[in-house]
Amino acid sequence: MESKIIRKKFLEFFKSKEHQIVSSAPIVNKNDPTLMFTNAGMNQFKDYFLGNKVPTSRRVADTQKCLRVSGKHNDLEEVGIDTYHHTMFEMLGNWSFGDYFKEESIQWSWDLLTEEFKLPKDRIYVTVFGGDPAENLQPDNEAYQLWKKIVPEDRILYGSKKDNFWEMGDQGPCGPASEIHIDLRPEEEIAKIPGKNLVNEDHPLVVEIWNIVFIQYNRKADSSLEPLPEKHIDTGMGFERLVMAIQNKTSNYDTDVFQPLIKFIADHAGKKYGQNPQDDIAMRVLSDHIRAISFTIADGQLPSNNKAGYVIRRILRRAVRYAYTFLNFREPFLYKMVPLLAKQFEEVFPELKEQQDFVQKVIQEEESSFLRTLENGLKRLEQIKAEINGKTDTIDGKTVFELYDTFGFPLDLTALIARENGLKIDEEGFQEEMAQQKDRSRKAATTETGDWQLVHAEEHEPEFIGYDHLQSASSIVKYRKVKAKKKEQYQVVLDTTPFYAESGGQVGDTGYLEVGSEKIPVTDTKRENDLIIHLTDKLPADPKAEVNAVVDVKKRQLTKNNHTATHLLHAALRQVLGDHVTQKGSFVNDKVLRFDFSHFSKLSDEELTEIEKIVNKKIRENIPLDEKRNVPIEEAQKLGAMALFGEKYGDFVRVITFDPKYSVELCGGTHVQATGEIGFFKIVSESSVAAGVRRIEAVTADEAEKYVNQNLDVLNLIRATLKTTGDPVKAVGDLLEEKNTLAKQVEAYQGQEGQTVKEALLEKSTNFGGINCIIESLKISSADTLKNIAFELRNQVENLYLVLAAEIEGRPHITVMLSDNIVKERSLNAGKIVKDLAKEIQGGGGGQPFYATAGGKNSAGLPKVTEKATEFIKSTVA
Ligand code: SER
Repeated sequence: MESKIIRKKFLEFFKSKEHQIVSSAPIVNKNDPTLMFTNAGMNQFKDYFLGNKVPTSRRVADTQKCLRVSGKHNDLEEVGIDTYHHTMFEMLGNWSFGDYFKEESIQWSWDLLTEEFKLPKDRIYVTVFGGDPAENLQPDNEAYQLWKKIVPEDRILYGSKKDNFWEMGDQGPCGPASEIHIDLRPEEEIAKIPGKNLVNEDHPLVVEIWNIVFIQYNRKADSSLEPLPEKHIDTGMGFERLVMAIQNKTSNYDTDVFQPLIKFIADHAGKKYGQNPQDDIAMRVLSDHIRAISFTIADGQLPSNNKAGYVIRRILRRAVRYAYTFLNFREPFLYKMVPLLAKQFEEVFPELKEQQDFVQKVIQEEESSFLRTLENGLKRLEQIKAEINGKTDTIDGKTVFELYDTFGFPLDLTALIARENGLKIDEEGFQEEMAQQKDRSRKAATTETGDWQLVHAEEHEPEFIGYDHLQSASSIVKYRKVKAKKKEQYQVVLDTTPFYAESGGQVGDTGYLEVGSEKIPVTDTKRENDLIIHLTDKLPADPKAEVNAVVDVKKRQLTKNNHTATHLLHAALRQVLGDHVTQKGSFVNDKVLRFDFSHFSKLSDEELTEIEKIVNKKIRENIPLDEKRNVPIEEAQKLGAMALFGEKYGDFVRVITFDPKYSVELCGGTHVQATGEIGFFKIVSESSVAAGVRRIEAVTADEAEKYVNQNLDVLNLIRATLKTTGDPVKAVGDLLEEKNTLAKQVEAYQGQEGQTVKEALLEKSTNFGGINCIIESLKISSADTLKNIAFELRNQVENLYLVLAAEIEGRPHITVMLSDNIVKERSLNAGKIVKDLAKEIQGGGGGQPFYATAGGKNSAGLPKVTEKATEFIKSTVA
């Protein structure tokens, strides 16, 4: 059964059980500060479990792109080395939100695996939670009894809290779990060791395929467990492992999910998979990592130096290092796999195909730049080896850390290269350095979050009314204390709020909460999933009292000007540059708007002017806002809305249109009622942010006016300085032309001056003992003229001893020039002479034996220079 069919059958099965089939949420988690990447299918439903939100359907199923490379669930080091862990994997899941519970979920999973997929029943083991006295949790006998009706008791095992109590993270929904494991070993091995002895023992062929979690608690910040009002089901099945079991393979990488990629890699490396264990690991690493890298980039996360971006960069570097060291790739290669992957997932995750060129470009650029550092790192290792030079056999921890930190060398790469050179590495020292760095970053980032304190019972979901109102009479539902960087703040949730919470690039509203005579500033508004959180420095004296929540109107107005302008800009960019332009990020506040988009070259001045012109034209057309809330996603797509891949949309979206033929976007932000409000739009800069991504910064309204006026002020100042009322460009041009003419004249005068001075000097030549001496003090306009005179005299006069003590623009200067034969026959050296003479003018200098110059500070010493020069030559010939 092809993997495609397996996925389809899973979804159809749950559809037949009245589940709504939904799309995968993006792999990059944008709305939850506690989680960088989606690490389980249930993440996008967290709010339904906690009761913060009511689901549209109580039964849901999907396939979810997951990444487990950071935080509580981290498999990275295993990936490639073994045959069944992955960075990115698909999790097939079905959910019940307060609907069916243990009985149905257990029965259905059994039916699907054994009847639809025909997995052998006697190869399946199930585990149930065995209880945990420390947490005061009882064994899950209910699940045990339910399984007992289906499988023989000797294949039901009780498991520990580690294996059978699932938690999303340090806080959040959790509960006892029942896992389904399968034994894929050959019969002879099974005869030797029964499968049940190998469950949860990290055996590559006795693996967990499905986890059914009975969500019934919330883990709180103080680590206590709080029972949830309703009971839920959260299941997750590893798609790649399921395919391995159904296709009767012994490795996930042998299935049709990975084989096309592995073949592609092997062909390009000129190798075969399955011949050399080290090469095989490398091929598995590459075929796994390219999936994680491509899908995260397609979902909007570019590689970078921090947080989620750094995780991607590290995965990419791990892949490049394997490609370089074991498969001998010296040029970027990973990016070449993208089209194959995009085609493979065209139907299930079309976002990759849609952005194929862009994703390729980003990966290629990252690869090139790491290949450069990789080579530098290797050079650095050579240096280290030379420094060590037999003195020790170990590279110290600090140096290993430097290679890791500066050159992005993973520890095992350094260890490998060290080994090849007969060296060891101080791993302990490295770990110490690493721990210190982690400690430093942990200290910088810790935020302590307290538990929510309920003030008023929640009668309905907290409601956002800020599209229509900027003030509301509200009450505080709950609040909690947070401590970040030693500062204490409160996070306050209101039953209704006009405050827009930061999202979609638009900053959060500020304003105040008014309680009686008290006015408490709201410094920012953020969101955690769907919860709107107001940040304040204190609480009202009586948190139960009614609150007048007031948004800063001016700031909101300026911000919405910029947000609408961003939409107008997006549409203009597509008109001028083409349909390949898609949004890659944006930032909008009351001062500026920043828009990042995919495009491969710098925008020309003409393009920028054209774009600006279109946007301003649309502003003047005063196009009214057409806002549609709660539009089903399919309808929005029909309207031509530009869906942003990597944004998570519910089943209903908000569509913002300014002229259906011009700009239609899915957007949760705040907008002007008609484009005329924006007043004026001005692009301030255009730059590159990453490979294939450009950024435009622009201003509108008051800021645009300010920007233009500041530039006009500069022009006026230039006019005033040039004393002209006419065209300042022409005036500056005239000035430059005049300057050039004058420079030419000066050059001509200097030439004439040189000739005159030279003639005069020739006449003053006197002969001492066969040497023609010219020793003079003079004033001259430039050092160049002086140099020319000296060289011309050298050509014209034989046996020359020339010393010129000159004043140039008020500063003393000495030139000494000698004929070659004088240098040779008399052993004279212009450099030495000039050094000695320079003492008289408090200066120094030097040059060659035949020509040397010096500068100084004291012009009063110039007559002394000529005197000394005369004495010197006289004493030399005497
Ligand atoms: N949340 C559980 C897991 O990730 C089941 O979906 O394993």
